[in-house]
Amino acid sequence: MTHKLWGGRFKKRSDPRFERFSSSFRWDRKLLPYDLKIDAVHVRALRRCKVLSAVEEKKLLSAIAALCKSYQNGSLRLKEDSEDVHTAVWTKLEQWVGPLADKLHTGRSRNDLVSQSTRLYCKDHAEQILVLAAQFQKAVIQKADAYQGVLIPGMTHLQNAQVLSLGHIFLAYAEMIERSKSTLEAAKVFMDVCVLGSGALAGVTFGLDQKRMARELGLSRVTNNSYDVSGDRDFLLNFLSCLAFFGTQISRIAEDLMIGQLKGFSLVELDQAYCTGSSMMPQKKNADFLELARGAEGVFAGNLIGMMTTLKGLPTSYNRDLQWDKKYIFDSVETCETLLQIFTGIFKTLKINEKRAKELLADESLYATDLADTLVGSGVSFKAAHHQAGQIVSLSEATGIAISKIGLDLLKKIAPRIEGGVYRLFDARHSVRMKKTRGSTHPDEVKKQIKRWKLSLR
Ligand code: ARG
Repeated sequence: MTHKLWGGRFKKRSDPRFERFSSSFRWDRKLLPYDLKIDAVHVRALRRCKVLSAVEEKKLLSAIAALCKSYQNGSLRLKEDSEDVHTAVWTKLEQWVGPLADKLHTGRSRNDLVSQSTRLYCKDHAEQILVLAAQFQKAVIQKADAYQGVLIPGMTHLQNAQVLSLGHIFLAYAEMIERSKSTLEAAKVFMDVCVLGSGALAGVTFGLDQKRMARELGLSRVTNNSYDVSGDRDFLLNFLSCLAFFGTQISRIAEDLMIGQLKGFSLVELDQAYCTGSSMMPQKKNADFLELARGAEGVFAGNLIGMMTTLKGLPTSYNRDLQWDKKYIFDSVETCETLLQIFTGIFKTLKINEKRAKELLADESLYATDLADTLVGSGVSFKAAHHQAGQIVSLSEATGIAISKIGLDLLKKIAPRIEGGVYRLFDARHSVRMKKTRGSTHPDEVKKQIKRWKLSLR
């Protein structure tokens, strides 16, 4: 018989170029462990509805177990020119158990098989990504803890804005990653469905115990509609968009680090293990991995749009277009997993130049907002206070005299309600201590948030 799962009605051989293009084995071989898991569950279900005898069940199960074993120890060789992973597994089983392998495909289609194995892959990797993301957060929180006392100029529009604790900045990274984790948690629901028994589109004529199959696969529910199952890839769209979500955050953190390590800024020092040199300029220690990570959002967004475009306008049931889904999902999953692992390493080894942090705080315009707020305290409206503080900054710029060195009488000419205590404002520690709200950069608040994260990430 042919090494295809079909072929009875065909008299001619396929064009080899067509066959190569048509094959998805180069991608979907990653589904192998999931395919095997499903096969074992399916064999037991076929036995329960008497399609297989006890002897046949035993034979098939031990062949599947042997296949699993050789897959795990790396000795498994599959037929490279297989149409897809499901065909490759069946070919191998046939080598071991003969024509009995043909019975395995009773009551199922590759349409439900591919949908189920992809769901299992996604669920597994979603869980793995949640773990990796938590490890990244842990590394970030460790640095937040270590550097919470380091104050630096916080920026908006890449311009100095107000003083921030570095711990506060790192806490922001943990917050954003938490949002991606929550969207991923929610996305898992669409993956967590047993679709076996759906067949090609209409359901199957054998009484497969779908609830039990779901249980054996560790899934919490059975599908309500076999026709929906055959073409449903919404779980992939959802997953790809979560991965793109991670991607945007990683790209922004990468950008922050790049700015922090710029010569002239020189606040962040990346470990050599994460830098590269130049083939021509011997002095270079480039943080170009961060650029690679920033650029990876092109991969994540591209894969998401690719999947959406593939799905758009497709007739509801299975169409071969769907085979492209593997290309998108494996690429995004692997990129995301690797980036999270590397960023964990980057944060674990990251060093902060505290001396530079102090030097960067020399810009007293960082305290202009504190100055305006203090004027509000003496009864001036915020609009007037903002205006007066702005005039003071401008005077300092025009004269080249630091604000803290301008005499009180001159300051009073601009801001009549200003008092001698104003000179206390030009101090970074004082500035962060002035902040009173939850989630602010006040040292007590930063400490509290670090403690909360440490408890929740345990
Ligand atoms: N390899 C295919 C995929 O990944 C499954 C094959 C189903 N083929 C078919 N003609 N129904 O989507």
